[in-house]
Amino acid sequence: DVVDIRTFSKTGMFTYDPGFLATASCESAITFIDGDQGQLYYRGYPIEQLAEHSDYLETCYLLIFGELPNAEQKAEFVRTVTRHTMVHDQMTRFFQGFRRDAHPMAMMVGVTGALSAFYQDSLDINNPRHREVTMYRLISKIPTIAAMCYRYSKGLPFNYPKNDLSYAANFLQMMFATPCEEYKPNPVLVRALDRIFTLHADHEQNASTSTVRLAGSSGANPFACIAAGIACLWGPSHGGANEAVLKMLDEIGSVENVPAFMEGVKNKTHKLMGFGHRVYKNMDPRAAIMKKTCDDVLKELGLENDPKFKLAMALEKIALEDPYFIERKLYPNVDFYSGIVLTALNIPVSMFTVIFALARTVGWISHWNEMISDPGMKIGRPRQLYTGSPRRDYVPVEKRK
Ligand code: ACO
Repeated sequence: DVVDIRTFSKTGMFTYDPGFLATASCESAITFIDGDQGQLYYRGYPIEQLAEHSDYLETCYLLIFGELPNAEQKAEFVRTVTRHTMVHDQMTRFFQGFRRDAHPMAMMVGVTGALSAFYQDSLDINNPRHREVTMYRLISKIPTIAAMCYRYSKGLPFNYPKNDLSYAANFLQMMFATPCEEYKPNPVLVRALDRIFTLHADHEQNASTSTVRLAGSSGANPFACIAAGIACLWGPSHGGANEAVLKMLDEIGSVENVPAFMEGVKNKTHKLMGFGHRVYKNMDPRAAIMKKTCDDVLKELGLENDPKFKLAMALEKIALEDPYFIERKLYPNVDFYSGIVLTALNIPVSMFTVIFALARTVGWISHWNEMISDPGMKIGRPRQLYTGSPRRDYVPVEKRK
């Protein structure tokens, strides 16, 4: 009998939900988003409070372990993260295989994946102690690798981590310090970068986190799973958006060109990058915090009148008052402002998504750990709605028309 497998497939009991608009893939106790109200909570704490009073490493502890640390636990956590900041010397050789003009995200995918070759013990994922060490290693080493990607692309020697600096200050040091003078990080800029890290630390089941979970559900090496998350984050609809914002500003050029650009947006020739969000149909709470940080940084650096930043602010104002955006509930997302802050910090556009990946690593690994710790964990295996040919018989090549 010839069975029409398309009919068979359609009679199966599953939901068809392209883009997972209404499908929960798991239970999770880490992050809650109220998209209609524009609210975000890590382990129950509003993001506004964490951004104001906490710092990135404390937030990492919270995401991983579920509670804020006491003073002793915090000091021990920071000490342990600091202890793991170096990468194996052989890791430095990986970079030699890349072209200098390779995108830093391409290097991040490769080098982070290569960590799996250095930490065989991470394969014992059912051992909680091994999982914990893996989490420390990732949070500690990702900034080192990220800065190495930048230094390699510039043809500069790698800078060693300086463990007497804070997490964000050390990252800036590894990016920018030169042997000619002592690197003195500006506290306003360090705080701004730490805030970018905190705001990007987790965002429940976004595309890259779901990728890490799916990859991890087969029991794969966690460093390889994080590399998969980095690959997913790279796309312009996800983590690549802050890079796309700056490219868009360059394309627009100046404030006079904004109306013509907006016409193109409405005709759907292009999107206004850094606007809109799958879940937030109100202001992204991270964007509100980032806007304030953006103002502080521009003021600190005396850049309020810089043409690029003036253009960004003009664009934001016009879009917020435009009925096209109001009707569709399109507000600036965190990437609109983080791109501007990172530019002010002298970080090249190609490194923006790398910094997002650095910050999100804790979210990815917290979700991975939550999933692996669940005794009921199953391999992720979505179904499909088959739309191809019905059953047919093989025809030898000489008989084909
Ligand atoms: N500019 C112009 N119009 C937009 C934009 C935008 N940035 N975003 C959505 N729209 C429009 C769509 O064209 C659509 O219009 P229609 O109803 O006339 O067809 C409507 O708004 C709804 O858009 P959807 O595509 O259904 O929204 P979705 O939730 O699928 O997309 C997304 C969300 C991908 C983030 C989208 O808003 C986008 O591409 N934004 C620009 C890229 C960006 O900034 N991404 C960062 C996301 S945040 C993050 O990853 C941290």
